[in-house]
Amino acid sequence: MKKLAFLLLPFVLFSCSDHFSTSLKSPKGAVQVKVFENTDGHLAYSMNFKGQPVLLESTLGMELRDHGFVGTDLKLVGVDSTGSKKTWRPLWGEDGVIIDDFRSYVFHFQRPADQLLVDVHFKLYEEGIGFRYEFPQQEGLSEVIIDDERSEFQLTGDHQTWWIPADYDSYEYLYQSHKISEIDSSLVDGSLLAATTIMEKHAVNTPLTMKSEDGLYISIHEANLTDYAGMTLRIEEDKRTLTSSLVPSKLNGWKAKVQAPFHTPWRTIQVGEKAGDLVESKLIVNLNEPNQLENTDWIKPGKYIGIWWEMHLQTSAWDYASGKHGATTAKAKKYIDFAARNGFDGVLVEGWNTGWERWIGFPDREGVFDFVTPYPDYDIREVVAYGKQKGVEIIMHHETSAAPRTYEQQLDTAYALMKDLGIHAVKTGYVGPIIPEGEYHHGQWMVNHYRKVLKKAAESEVMVFAHEPIKATGIRRTYPNMMAREGLRGSEFNSPWGYGNPPEHLTIVPFTRMLGGPIDYTPGIFKLDMNEYKEGAYVPTTLAYQLAEYVVVYSPVQMASDLIEHYEGQAAFQFIKDVPTDWDGSVVVDGEIGEYIVMARLEKGGHDWYLGGLTNENARELTIELDFLQAGVTYEAQIYQDAADADFETNQAAYEITQKTVKLGDELTLKMARGGGVAIRFKAL
Ligand code: NOJ
Ligand code: CA
Repeated sequence: MKKLAFLLLPFVLFSCSDHFSTSLKSPKGAVQVKVFENTDGHLAYSMNFKGQPVLLESTLGMELRDHGFVGTDLKLVGVDSTGSKKTWRPLWGEDGVIIDDFRSYVFHFQRPADQLLVDVHFKLYEEGIGFRYEFPQQEGLSEVIIDDERSEFQLTGDHQTWWIPADYDSYEYLYQSHKISEIDSSLVDGSLLAATTIMEKHAVNTPLTMKSEDGLYISIHEANLTDYAGMTLRIEEDKRTLTSSLVPSKLNGWKAKVQAPFHTPWRTIQVGEKAGDLVESKLIVNLNEPNQLENTDWIKPGKYIGIWWEMHLQTSAWDYASGKHGATTAKAKKYIDFAARNGFDGVLVEGWNTGWERWIGFPDREGVFDFVTPYPDYDIREVVAYGKQKGVEIIMHHETSAAPRTYEQQLDTAYALMKDLGIHAVKTGYVGPIIPEGEYHHGQWMVNHYRKVLKKAAESEVMVFAHEPIKATGIRRTYPNMMAREGLRGSEFNSPWGYGNPPEHLTIVPFTRMLGGPIDYTPGIFKLDMNEYKEGAYVPTTLAYQLAEYVVVYSPVQMASDLIEHYEGQAAFQFIKDVPTDWDGSVVVDGEIGEYIVMARLEKGGHDWYLGGLTNENARELTIELDFLQAGVTYEAQIYQDAADADFETNQAAYEITQKTVKLGDELTLKMARGGGVAIRFKAL
C-alpha cells in the first residue's frame, strides 16, 4: 500500500515505511480495533475488548470474478469517521427503547493497478463491532460475480464453542460443544441430522458462540443479510483462524451476483464478560436499517394456538387423502372457541389447502401446492368469518415444500386471498431440498426469495412467521412484519417421531441462535408422556420447563402448541394465558451456556415482571436477587415450579404453584428438577 499522511483525524493513524496502521475506539473505549496493512501487503484488522485481545491479526478481502482478489495492493485514499448516539423504539421487541451508540469509520481504498474503488466500513459499539465491504459507484464495475469473501477472524486460543455444522439447507441441529480444534461435522450423530447436506467438514453456521480461556464470551454472526449469500465460517488448518465462506449457488457456479454499487452484510463480533451480555446486546438490530413500513397498525404481537401438534403426533394428517385430515371446518371452529375463551389472538390451521399428497419426500414438488384452494372439508370463508365474530384471527399457512418458484407464481393470488379475507399473518415453510437443484436455503437466490415474500406480505399487511428460513440477522427492524422464524431445531423434534431436544438445548439456544432474533420455537407442550402415541415416547422436559420457554425463548408471537384438550383442567395453563409477548425490558438474571439460564422481562406498558428459568439434565438450586423489580412496588410472585419428585425422564408433569410477596432487593431461591424449570409472574400489587 502507498504511504499516506493524515492530519487532524479523530483517531490515531500513523504510517511507517510503506504500511499504514490505524487505531479505532468505540464511544466509551471498551472496544478497540486496529486496521492496518500487514507485512505481506494485506489489509488486516485486530480487535481488543477492555484491554484483552479478542481477534489477532486477521486479513480482509473479497474474490471478485474478473477483478481478482481485492484485499492486497490497495492504496488508502481517505478515512471518514463519524459518531452517533441515538435511541429508537422498536414497534415490538425485548425492550421498549434501544440505544444505538457507535463510532463509524469508512476506509476508502483504491487499487492503483486498475483504479478499482473499495471501502471497508467499521462500526464500533461498546459490546462489539460490525464491518462490511462497500463498493461505490465507479466506472467499469456494474454486474459483479462474487466467488467468495475472505474475512478472517483469528482467535486468541482454542476456545470452547457451541456450534452447528455449516449445512447449506438447515439449521435444525442440536448444538455441540467442542474446542475449535475439535469441530468436525462427522461428529454430528447421523440419527440427529436434519436430513439434508453438510458441505464442509470443518465449518459452522452462525451465530457461532465461544468462550475463551480468559473468560470472554464471543459470538460471530452477520447483520442485514440482503441480496447476498449467507455466511458460514470455515476453520482453517491452524485451528485458530475462521474464514468467511459464502453459501454457493452451485447452479450458477458463483457465491453471489450483485449490481454495483453494493455492500456486503455486516460481519459482527459481539463480546461480553458474562454469557448474558451477548443476549442483552442490541448490536445486530442496530446494524439494520430503520423501519421502512409506514402504516403498521396491523402488526400485532400475540399468542396463538393451532391445528398443528396433532399432525406431529400423527393422530391426524395434513393431507385429505389420508382419511384422517386434521384441518376441518368443525375442528377450526372448536379451536376458535377455545382461543376466544382463553384470550388467544390467533389460530393456525395447517393442512387446509391442496397439495399435501405430494410434498415431503417427492422429488418433483413444483406446481403441487395450491395456496388458494382449500380441501373439501375446510370452508375457509366460514372459518375466517367465525373467527372474526369471536375476535380471533386465522393464521394462514403456506408450506412451499421448498418449491419457491411455485410459491412465487402464486404470490399475487395467495396474498390477494388473505387481503380479501382480512388475514394478517402467515406461517411459511420450506421443507426439503430446494428446487431447482443446485440452489440452497441459505444461498443468495433464496435470501432474495424470502425477502420478496416478506415485502409482498408487508404490502398486503401480513405478518410472517417463517419456518426453514434464512437465519435471523435483524431484518425485523426494517420490516417489523418479520415476526419470528424457526431456523433452529424447534419443538417439533419433541414429537414421538422426532428424536427429542434434550433439556440442554434451550440452555444453549439463547446464547447462539437467539442472538439473531425472535424464534418460533412453538413451546407449551403439557402432555409430556407420549406413550399413548408411541411406546416409551416422552418430551424430555418437565412441564415447568415448558412454561419457562415463554420467557426464555423470545418471540413476539408465541404458540401454545399442544392439543387444546391437553390444557383443560391444568392450573399451569394460567401462566400461558398471562404471559405477554411484547416487553419493555429484558435481562439475563443468570446463566451459563449449556447449563442453565434465568431471564426476566417487564411487560410492555405495564408493571408486571415475568421470569423464566430452565436447566439442563442436572437439577439445580439457585438463589437470585430480585434487583430488576421496581423500587417501592410490592409484588405477588406467582411461582410455577417443578414438584420435588419431578424429573424430565420419569415424572415430567409434576409441578406446583405457590405464591409469595416480594419486593426489590429480596432474594428468591429457584429449584429446578433435572431437565426442569421455573416460571414466575411478579404481579405488581
Ligand atoms: C415444518 C415446520 O417446522 C412445522 O412447524 C410444520 O408443521 C411442517 N413443516 C409442515 O409445514
Ligand atoms: Ca422445521
